[in-house]
Amino acid sequence: MNRTVVACIALGLAIMAPIANASPQSDLKAFQGYFKKRFPTVPFNEYANGVYALPIAKNMRAQWKQIMQFPPYDFELDKGKRLWNTPFKNGKTYASCFKNGGHDIAQHYPYWDPRTKEVRTLVLDINTCRVMNGAKPYKNLLTGDMADLDAYMKYMARGKKISIDMSSPGAVKAYEAGRHFFWARRGQLNFSCATCHVDNAGKYLRGNIIGPALGHGVGFPAYRSAWGTLGTIDKRYIGCNKKVRAQPLKPESVQYRDLEFYETYMDTGLPLSAPSQRP
Ligand code: HEC
Repeated sequence: MNRTVVACIALGLAIMAPIANASPQSDLKAFQGYFKKRFPTVPFNEYANGVYALPIAKNMRAQWKQIMQFPPYDFELDKGKRLWNTPFKNGKTYASCFKNGGHDIAQHYPYWDPRTKEVRTLVLDINTCRVMNGAKPYKNLLTGDMADLDAYMKYMARGKKISIDMSSPGAVKAYEAGRHFFWARRGQLNFSCATCHVDNAGKYLRGNIIGPALGHGVGFPAYRSAWGTLGTIDKRYIGCNKKVRAQPLKPESVQYRDLEFYETYMDTGLPLSAPSQRP
């Protein structure tokens, strides 16, 4: 990485370092308040569009609007719908595994499951549904059929506002682990997620504009031309871990699920925009 870039980023101030023992509710207020103050002209709902929300990304946004006339993820979204409606050998479909037949529920994911004592993502629940119906779980949790089904389930709740249940102590514990992961520095470059996506949001990094952390939980799976396909949020997490030369974790590892739980809770009230197209 270019030295000047590293220096600029290293100088970014940790304006919003998390206060120990703050509640998720007060964290949420501080987190969203920070972005409101930092980018006063950006309407709240715009954060559902990732980096395109920022005034500095105006040109990228114009291109994106054009791309979105024929969204590049449409084929895969159709595939997700087809898979969703294809019966398992026992005649049941995915809809049989989910509340409300899977409609309008993705805005409550991920969730803390008191029974299994873990954060459950759509990806995990889709695989559990397969196993319960005699099908093999998907091994590829980053792209392919899994990403397409994840995208279709989010699409069925598109526009619904993120609302995560944080009422149990177990949920708060997982949230705190996710928060710690987000703010901890790592890798040879010693950056945290917050170094880039909080302190340096809206700045250039090697020709890319860094997007705000607010909105990370609402746009995935996303289609990126660098991927040439829809990818799940863990594919992005792995990429960002590698960026700072930190060891990426396994898809759907406890740490990544807790991180997704934290990031999505910080998006409380934002409309679900997945699947999306992202740079
Ligand atoms: C060295 C800076 C840097 C660090 C550190 C970093 N990222 Fe990123 N990240 C980027 C850039 C640049 C992009 C692409 C532009 C954008 O969308 O922000 C990106 C994109 C993302 C996106 C996609 C956003 C969207 O809506 O398309 C997510 C989610 C994300 N990062 C999460 C994380 C998490 C979680 C961490 C910590 C494990 C992290 N990043 C660490 C630079 C960084």
